[in-house]
Amino acid sequence: MRDQPELDVLLKTEETFPPPPGFAASAELSDPEVYDRAAADPEAWWADWAARLDWMEPWDTVLDWSDPPHATWFAGGKLNVSANCLDRHVAAGNGDRVAYFWEAEDADAPGQEDRGRKAITYSWLLDQTQRFANVMKGLGVGKGDVVGIYMPMVPEAAVAMLACTRIGAIHNVVFGGFSAESLKERMEVSGAKLLVTADATLRRGSPMPMKASIDSIFDELEEMSSVVVVNRCDTDPPMAEGRDHFWAESVEAADPVCEPEPMDAEDPLYLLYTSGSTAKPKGIMHTTGGYLTQVAATHQMVFDLKDDDIFWCAADIGWVTGHSYIVYGPLANGATSIMYEGAPDYPQKDRWWQIAARYKASILYTAPTVIRSFMKWGEELPAKHDLSSLRLLGSVGEPINPRAWLWYHKYIGGGHCPIVDTWWQTETGAIMISPLPGITTTKPGSATVPIPGIEAAILDSEDNPVEEGGGTLVLTRPWPAMARTLFNEPERYVETYWKRYGPDTYLVGDAAHIDEDDYFWIVGRIDDVINVSGHRLSTMEVESALVSHPGVAEAAVIGVSDEATGQAIISFVTPQDASNRGDDFTTELRQHVAERIGKLARPRGIYYADDLPKTRSGKIMRRLLRDVADGKALGDVSTLKDPSVIDDLKAQISGG
Ligand code: WTA
Repeated sequence: MRDQPELDVLLKTEETFPPPPGFAASAELSDPEVYDRAAADPEAWWADWAARLDWMEPWDTVLDWSDPPHATWFAGGKLNVSANCLDRHVAAGNGDRVAYFWEAEDADAPGQEDRGRKAITYSWLLDQTQRFANVMKGLGVGKGDVVGIYMPMVPEAAVAMLACTRIGAIHNVVFGGFSAESLKERMEVSGAKLLVTADATLRRGSPMPMKASIDSIFDELEEMSSVVVVNRCDTDPPMAEGRDHFWAESVEAADPVCEPEPMDAEDPLYLLYTSGSTAKPKGIMHTTGGYLTQVAATHQMVFDLKDDDIFWCAADIGWVTGHSYIVYGPLANGATSIMYEGAPDYPQKDRWWQIAARYKASILYTAPTVIRSFMKWGEELPAKHDLSSLRLLGSVGEPINPRAWLWYHKYIGGGHCPIVDTWWQTETGAIMISPLPGITTTKPGSATVPIPGIEAAILDSEDNPVEEGGGTLVLTRPWPAMARTLFNEPERYVETYWKRYGPDTYLVGDAAHIDEDDYFWIVGRIDDVINVSGHRLSTMEVESALVSHPGVAEAAVIGVSDEATGQAIISFVTPQDASNRGDDFTTELRQHVAERIGKLARPRGIYYADDLPKTRSGKIMRRLLRDVADGKALGDVSTLKDPSVIDDLKAQISGG
């Protein structure tokens, strides 16, 4: 573990923001007593939330924590996620309710009139889900099989996920920005049988091939027998006879009825691969009953969801935020959401505000990096649109610096919307530390306190709880949506999260501070994870991508603070051929990383050295590299094998 990063999150403003009186008066949770009630009996608290779902069989035990770190929630209970997200709303007469207002990136392009905007109802979703579930069955997919999903932000992505849950297949969604190589790895290690993808995805108005760009991976995926392709852009992708099927034709031909499979509360629901401290991504596994309980509960209580809310979680379905707060939480609650396909600045930089105004969004949930981009583009852009429908704002993915918080509050929220800064992770499945907007007085930059039913602490270097000050963030009680294991790597799960402080204490991997009011201030990662624009990458992943280039002898990667993206990737490379240090080689390496992992992993800067700074025992001194990159005075360099390499690097950094 490395030292705790310093971010301007610590530059606090003294200003605090109590819930506006009008907001508190109409909030479902407005009495702080809920915290005491949940703390007194957390199992009863979560059981109350679980009881709001439809269970095919009741559970026997709320929580079994007799064999930590292995938790069982709602043992004996049976339910189906798609039935909770769809059937029960349709049965209650809400079939015509809009689940998603879907907005295409090119909605206003000529000729898009009837395909650029769609109001997706709960009935439509149920029909498509049942049909696609039958398509998958027909392709030999059943309970417990893994299905890959590699899609643009189109309604079919949600349908594919729901259809998996209907038959008990385990979905493994891979963010569409990842490369073919990353997709292949994630499909291979999970043994996926089927992949759902699209012909192409729109990038700033032009189709970027998806199917054609991944066609080469299938020969190497022994277990993958079928591919279903959504036609998004009419690009006429290559289709292999017998293996590849078009979505529309298959769905149309399918039987419209597929009964929901009764699933055990602890049956796997999905896998989501995320970066950890090594080059190999971790297959986070979530299960059925506990996950759905906590995503529905948090979506309700943190966003104070009302019947007429128009909820906009502007994440991508490929990340956990999209899973929990575009798909499962909102649909379980029968909410109406906005799903936007494209870039925030296409075709113009006020695209989001145009969308928010068009659909009268009342809740907006996004990431600090996007807020900082909007800040840069100026407050005149939101000011051109009527954003008066907004009543609540949310933030997720990285620490939000107070300056961005205050800007968001003033220029997007018109000064009257509470902000919920929600801290959680892929591993936690759902929101863990966050204000409750009708109760909590917020402090810009702090995620405030654990939500009712959740317990967190900060431990110092001697493993003692810190009452006021900094340390390592841990979670000290099991929670319903917790990851249950790492797919096929149960020991790595225990090792990574439950070893450092024993099997009852979950090691988050974040550094944090706690203040005099017991508010948590998350600072950033303490492991080798870099958070670029809210996307998790590991230094090792990027390093191994770089060294897989034949021209690279050695590489070290670090994260540095970046005003726009939170953190940025910087790499230090020893080329095979010492003369290879020019811009062309840098471009080539960046392209190589894009191919291996995805564009999001391209280093912002690459610096060259004949040797990397190492200790005498040969360990790369990353700490020193970070100081060099930050332009800091270097501390003790006496352990360095060859101090001259530092001068070379410093010269490059100050020169560029
Ligand atoms: C960071 C995203 C500060 C943190 C849901 C965590 C945050 C990692 C916040 C998880 C927040 C997320 N304040 N930091 N409100 N939310 N993080 O798995 O470092 O993509 O460990 O899940 O993002 O990232 P992940």
